[in-house]
Amino acid sequence: MNLELVLGTHPPTNAAKTSMNRSKTLVACHKLLLRCYSQGKSQLKINGTHYDTHPEFTNISGTVLSLSDRALHLKAAHPIGILRKQIEDKLNSTSDSYCVYNNFRPVVTVEENFDSLGFPSDHPGRSKSDTYYVNDKHLFRTHTSAHEMECFGNIKGFTTRESPRAPTDKPGFLISADVYRRDEIDRTHYPVFHQMEGARVWKRSQEPVPQGTEPLHIQQLRFDLQTLEEQLHQENTNLVVHDDISLEQNPKQDYMSDLEVSLCSQHLKRSIELLVAQVFNKKLASMRAAGSNTQLQVRWIKAYFPWTAPSWEIEVFWQGEWLELCGCGLVREQVLLNAGYKPDNQIGWAFGLGLDRIAMLLFEVPDIRLFWTMDDRFHSQFHEGQITKFKPYSKYPGTIRDVAFWLPQDQRQKAIHENDLMEIVREKAGDLVESVKLVDKFTHPKTNKKSLCYRINYQSMDRNLTNDEINQIQENVREELVNKYGVTLR
Ligand code: PHE
Repeated sequence: MNLELVLGTHPPTNAAKTSMNRSKTLVACHKLLLRCYSQGKSQLKINGTHYDTHPEFTNISGTVLSLSDRALHLKAAHPIGILRKQIEDKLNSTSDSYCVYNNFRPVVTVEENFDSLGFPSDHPGRSKSDTYYVNDKHLFRTHTSAHEMECFGNIKGFTTRESPRAPTDKPGFLISADVYRRDEIDRTHYPVFHQMEGARVWKRSQEPVPQGTEPLHIQQLRFDLQTLEEQLHQENTNLVVHDDISLEQNPKQDYMSDLEVSLCSQHLKRSIELLVAQVFNKKLASMRAAGSNTQLQVRWIKAYFPWTAPSWEIEVFWQGEWLELCGCGLVREQVLLNAGYKPDNQIGWAFGLGLDRIAMLLFEVPDIRLFWTMDDRFHSQFHEGQITKFKPYSKYPGTIRDVAFWLPQDQRQKAIHENDLMEIVREKAGDLVESVKLVDKFTHPKTNKKSLCYRINYQSMDRNLTNDEINQIQENVREELVNKYGVTLR
């Protein structure tokens, strides 16, 4: 049987109509998924492609499916879209080196998301409790790195493979997209968020050079680095950068020389510093005007990613805290080989930047759910190209309900992961829940039975909730916990 899951792709014209349509789409998604799962042999159509479901792997919910057509990063007057555009413009402002890809579909293969990047087979990121699987071979991308292989393979003159897209002359790329992870529920976590991937490569020149001159690619790297440094200087970015990680703690790849590592990683770090300065300095200036007088501090710390070495993360000191912004590193040669490159022929870097947290902070949006609201009182506040402070339109009271249960002792029962509970709440309550927290954990001394208690805060961004409505959702959550995981309610 072919189950069609057709999700609209056009932006709404008016908020009220859209909100109704959205709930209808959501209900339709839920119903279709339910039919799908119960019949165990069906297909899903997502963004125009049919996928077989898999009895053990398929774990996408109607809620997540209904979000997969929103493409907030493409909306010119949405905080995520405004921020995305600013960063793209900045990075392309001096040399126009980056090809921009913003239309990749969210469903990718396990190979693109994990295998091509060298994720070990037991990496926790692959687990069904963390990732939304369409079936055993397809999933909703968990990061924009899933498209690295394809985009590296699209750079003219580097790859020996045929590219399905028009190859580009630009030696770098930027990919922005929605990414999906099963996660906790609170003001900064949402199952869908946005990332921007950036990457840049240089071809090693094999041409002989006169004695006393450096190989051409080293000259090119030095030139590119100098251009960036001049830009940083000209813009008077005034960053205080802490960077004291030695390469002993963060090993390089054998195929690269020390000089290549040094130049390439400086180019990476200066590029990211430029974008961080651009994004945060303006905000800092407006805060300075309001009486604050701080200089922007950033620090580089050591990190690990399976597809980069060495690897780093950059953090910015913002309102008393070090905030993690972006993971990055020098791309492992194997990733480039997977993209059809020749051995020993090129070097490059990549970064992945989370957009939502930065947008929350710049636009002073207190709850990540607001990005997804259909309420015009939110959307009418933002304008293309402008970073403005969000003015809360109303605060609706929260209502707390606890759900407490004994975990089943029967080993045959499917184990419940915390993210499974979060998923049930998201499925049953949509965006009407502000947070879910574990408030009590207890093991009975005699029976050894384990009990958990979670506190759910029901609170809408857009309206008042009635008690009846909350009771109904709470009941649905409780029922689902019993049906799916065999817990005993307390
Ligand atoms: N994809 C990584 C993440 O989601 C970030 C990253 C991108 C790290 C590119 C290194 C290189 O955390």
